[in-house]
Amino acid sequence: MKKYSKQIIMALILIISPILNSCQKEELKPAEVEKISWGKTGDGNNVDLYTLKNNKGSVMQVTNYGAIIVSLTMPDRNNKFEDIVLGNDSLYKYLRESPYFGAIVGRYGNRIGNGKFKIDDVPYQLTINNGENHLHGGLNGFDKVVWQAEPVKVENGSALKLSYHSYDGEEGYPGNLDITVFYTLSNENELIIEYSGKTDKKTIFNPTHHSYFNLTGKESSILDHELIINADQFTPVDSGLITTGELVNVENTAFDFRTAKAIGKDITNDEEQLKFGLGYDHNWVLNNYDGTLKLAVTLYEKNSGRVMEVLTTEPGLQFYSGNFLDGSITGKNNVVYNYRSGLCLEAQHYPDSPNKENFPSVILKPGDTYSQKTVYRFSAK
Ligand code: BGC
Repeated sequence: MKKYSKQIIMALILIISPILNSCQKEELKPAEVEKISWGKTGDGNNVDLYTLKNNKGSVMQVTNYGAIIVSLTMPDRNNKFEDIVLGNDSLYKYLRESPYFGAIVGRYGNRIGNGKFKIDDVPYQLTINNGENHLHGGLNGFDKVVWQAEPVKVENGSALKLSYHSYDGEEGYPGNLDITVFYTLSNENELIIEYSGKTDKKTIFNPTHHSYFNLTGKESSILDHELIINADQFTPVDSGLITTGELVNVENTAFDFRTAKAIGKDITNDEEQLKFGLGYDHNWVLNNYDGTLKLAVTLYEKNSGRVMEVLTTEPGLQFYSGNFLDGSITGKNNVVYNYRSGLCLEAQHYPDSPNKENFPSVILKPGDTYSQKTVYRFSAK
């Protein structure tokens, strides 16, 4: 009898062990990216919607129209998952109106004064789409074009590669430019954005990401979010929101976020810079810039406990407090996006750098490769 039971146990081990092994492998297998058709643009281009998931239960939807992050769920301190970005639930709504919700913005994030700049004394005129100025790549920037998309396998989560060819002269920019963006939703609850770019002619290049975050996961103001920006200086603007070229210390101004401060605390102070921006709409000069990945921002929302850290290789950070949201846009689930119900934290080079010799250069030369890495890292406490 004993002899038989030993044999039975051996047989059971033989049967069970491949099953156990395959389960382990299954866990290590990179997550699949789901793709569905999401409609067509006005000129007949097919648009898709991709769903990325990680092993913590977070989900991110991305469309190849504008490389837009449509939704991103993250857990609160009770492990409740909620969507923490603003956006729309149909392509039609994005085509109709979107203040750059969740998009990759380019070729140049933010403004270029009068849309003019020179490279090697050759003048260039970009399209004008914001008062007298050029904003976020022009009338048909990277946020309004259809990108090539391809899911890629990564060990640490789920990833999508997006590429776009911007032709010589597009929106007035010189050179054929190829941009690639990788979005990874990592198993550590990070949104990792890696950009690269190449040109065949000297050009300027400064892409950024334009998600509007609200860590409550609900329609509400962002004024109670607490913010830290690791910057001793910011770049003031004129009344048209063009940088003046100065770097000004944040000390004793509403722009001092070196230690945690509620966004609403000083936003209505009687300071000219706040009047020009209608609140915060400025670039901070990140401390100790050297092109390596550094912690730039910590954002905390006390009711949900959600924390978002932003790390970047870039020298600047545009903090925009959603001052132009005015309740006229109805987004996902018919939610009305009211004044300051989302905020953007855009890692980038300083606005109007092509016209400011003292700002880090944004020129990309043939043979060189542009690269940027920015990480939005989520947790809860
Ligand atoms: C800019 C704002 C602009 C907004 C568009 C931000 O990045 O800094 O000035 O109005 O984008 O939605």
